[in-house]
Amino acid sequence: MTKLDFTGRVVVVTGAGRGIGRAHALLLAARGAAVVVNDTGGAVDGSLHGENPAAEVVDTITAAGGRAVASTASVATEDGAQSIIDTAVAEFGGIDAVINNAGIYSLCSWDRISATQYQEFLDVHYLGSLFVSRAAWPYLAASGRGRIVNTVSGAMLGAPDMVHYGSAKGAVFGLTRSLAVAGHHDGIKVNAIAPGADTRMIDIAAPSLPPGTAEYIKTSMSPDLVAPVAAYLAHEDCTVTGEVLSVAGGGVSRIVVGYTPGITDTALTPEVIAARLEEIMAIGDLQAAPLILPVVTEG
Ligand SMILES: NC(=O)c1ccc[n+]([C@@H]2O[C@H](COP(=O)([O-])OP(=O)(O)OC[C@H]3O[C@@H](n4cnc5c(N)ncnc54)[C@H](O)[C@@H]3O)[C@@H](O)[C@H]2O)c1
Repeated sequence: MTKLDFTGRVVVVTGAGRGIGRAHALLLAARGAAVVVNDTGGAVDGSLHGENPAAEVVDTITAAGGRAVASTASVATEDGAQSIIDTAVAEFGGIDAVINNAGIYSLCSWDRISATQYQEFLDVHYLGSLFVSRAAWPYLAASGRGRIVNTVSGAMLGAPDMVHYGSAKGAVFGLTRSLAVAGHHDGIKVNAIAPGADTRMIDIAAPSLPPGTAEYIKTSMSPDLVAPVAAYLAHEDCTVTGEVLSVAGGGVSRIVVGYTPGITDTALTPEVIAARLEEIMAIGDLQAAPLILPVVTEG
């Protein structure tokens, strides 16, 4: 098995001061990448309180002989995202991969969340991933082996008291698929992970999980067991694009959105749907939804 090396590569990891992003940054740096460790140092709900975990991660990497630079800009504004990318280019001369990992979290019934809070979740998760990817895009294209790894969540498939979080992650799923199409021409591959790991988010999520789940996560799901998947997807040897890999506690699987064989009836009526719903719903030989790639024209 060839070791996947990152020597000479530059990787931007957002939200890398803590939790899963920190594990990504440490693994990539240990394999030779120059890493931009970005983190605002905010509380889990996004409010700021003056910590600088990005600097601590940079210290850890450099003490081990690696290369890293800190950025405390927020991914959630265009200026902040641009400054993260400018830091990478000024310090290391280009960008080969971006891991959009920064995230905020809270649990709340959807009818008690303010419009401002909905916007904040979209700003960090969806627009943050979009802004950082867009600012990095010319450098990823120039690299010839550009990679983007987004971070979604099983919550995008539906979970209690997570409408604000789960639907923002659903937007990141759509972004992943759409950027995979957009990146086809420039050789940029865009995928996502849906992680599970013991971080401070689990302390907040605990009340919404089945009994014993939080304890199980704490003992079995280190962020170190998420980072290898992000590292593979960020590496030039990655062969897939537009995919989502679920990863937790050493388990890795593909999340598929697919078409069931379904039915065809050119005399379709609502009654036909009612009568044949079971056939429509049956998974049978599910076809994974294909990426609709652009036709590349010369010149
Ligand atoms: N822990 C899990 O089980 C789990 C499950 C599903 C998805 N996720 C996702 O994984 C990612 C990492 O989460 P984590 O569990 O390590 O949580 P975490 O809170 O430990 O780490 C998230 C980091 O992002 C930083 N951040 C927040 N807003 C930012 C902004 N605007 N700009 C830059 N940095 C910002 C925070 O300061 C924090 O250090 C998130 O996207 C999260 O939604 C985590």
